[in-house]
Amino acid sequence: MIFKNQGSSIKKSNTISKDDLINIYGSYSYEFTQKNNEEIFVCSKCKELDLIELDQLLQTVGWTRRPIRRVKRALEFSILVVGLWRHDDKFPRLVGFARCTGDGILEATVWDVAVNPVYQGQGLGKELMKYILRELKNIGISKVTLFADAKVVTFYKRQGWILEPRGSKCAFWYAN
Ligand SMILES: CC(C)(COP(=O)(O)OP(=O)(O)OC[C@H]1O[C@@H](n2cnc3c(N)ncnc32)[C@H](O)[C@@H]1OP(=O)(O)O)[C@@H](O)C(=O)NCCC(=O)NCCS
Repeated sequence: MIFKNQGSSIKKSNTISKDDLINIYGSYSYEFTQKNNEEIFVCSKCKELDLIELDQLLQTVGWTRRPIRRVKRALEFSILVVGLWRHDDKFPRLVGFARCTGDGILEATVWDVAVNPVYQGQGLGKELMKYILRELKNIGISKVTLFADAKVVTFYKRQGWILEPRGSKCAFWYAN
């Protein structure tokens, strides 16, 4: 388990008109470009997700498929669900995703952070995490945890997440 104390800020660029941004992605969406400025990406907690498209995205990072109906319920019970879209006026493409569960007041846990491999290494994952933490902070949540695969721990550490001392606080239970 990894812990994060809040404190990051996000700089917003204005390459999509404010009206279009809200019309396509909803309120509280966040627009940015990647390093070479060729494409526009948007994080949105409001834009509805196509569950088939989400399933396809999560398959691109090699995760075991989950029944769509159960995923739909899981999203309904999540306190924050964020899509990361490659902007297109007509056909925005879902290229990243993350969600949070929690009590909605004190604590939250981040799950299912994924960026399509085609778009990895361009700073999208970092922007997605910044957006998530900003939104959690806006609802007053200051303690955030997540469970990271060993191979991506560095990704989180570089963003200020603190590793839990090995084995001292964390416990798991899996129903068979
Ligand atoms: C982990 C993941 C979301 C990162 O997304 P990304 O868009 O490639 O990450 P970014 O380009 O924003 O990288 C941000 C920084 O983290 C580093 N980084 C990215 N992936 C990393 C990895 N797997 N291991 C170590 N560092 C990593 C980058 O080098 C970059 O460093 P910098 O700020 O010094 O330049 C993406 O690789 C992914 O979807 N992986 C598969 C699914 C997964 O494992 N998710 C995490 C579940 S816990």
